[in-house]
Amino acid sequence: MSTSKNQSRNQEKGTGALRKPIVIAIDGTSASGKSTNAKLVAKALNYAYVDTGAMYRTLAWHCLKNGVDVDDARAVAGALRRWKARLDCADGHVRLLVDGYYPAREIRTAETSAAVPHVAAIPKVREWMVQAQRACAQFGNLVMEGRDIGTNVFPETDFKFYLDASLAERTRRRQADGVEEDLARRDKRDSERKAAPLMVPLGAVVVNNSGQTPQQTSEFILAEVRRKLAAQG
Ligand code: DC
Repeated sequence: MSTSKNQSRNQEKGTGALRKPIVIAIDGTSASGKSTNAKLVAKALNYAYVDTGAMYRTLAWHCLKNGVDVDDARAVAGALRRWKARLDCADGHVRLLVDGYYPAREIRTAETSAAVPHVAAIPKVREWMVQAQRACAQFGNLVMEGRDIGTNVFPETDFKFYLDASLAERTRRRQADGVEEDLARRDKRDSERKAAPLMVPLGAVVVNNSGQTPQQTSEFILAEVRRKLAAQG
């Protein structure tokens, strides 16, 4: 995605002045439909999509690959200082590349999934990730999904959503993707950690989408966003 295209996306009509990119923050529990809905909303609005969980997963994978103990905060911080990571936006998706590579498959393995909450609980990791996630605004308007977007990454945004669904439904969704995971345990760990715990951001619209299709949930989010944008003029 070129810079000039991003700039024209964010230019105020007639004035040539640059507007601050709009950020739609979508937080929530595991398997609550964040990715599916964030992608649908980003596509409908032609905003760039950012999966911040993938960024934490990429670091967890990088640590496993290089024999870095994910429970050793100093070692993980050292790996962060040394890794050659950069942001890239292709086909409307923002990705974190390591040595120019996006480990799409590797970050979804059971091994990486088990390691990621450990690195995500390290304060130095969260500092690094928040900076990188804020830097995604260079790509224009964003739909960013994660656990702390509305609380820590872009707390000033007017567009905050918190998705949830019953544990039974979320477990079914993960099983349908062929993944067996103890979601209750992961949510507990994400909610109870000291650094940026998962919580409902102040001002967020809470969407319990049990029994809803992604179409219904994303239409609801889009209607809210359009209503707020219209009110802002
Ligand atoms: O959404 P996901 O399952 O890919 O997230 C992977 C892990 O990263 C999960 O344990 C929560 C953590 N995470 C986080 O702490 N903060 C974010 N903004 C995104 C993900």
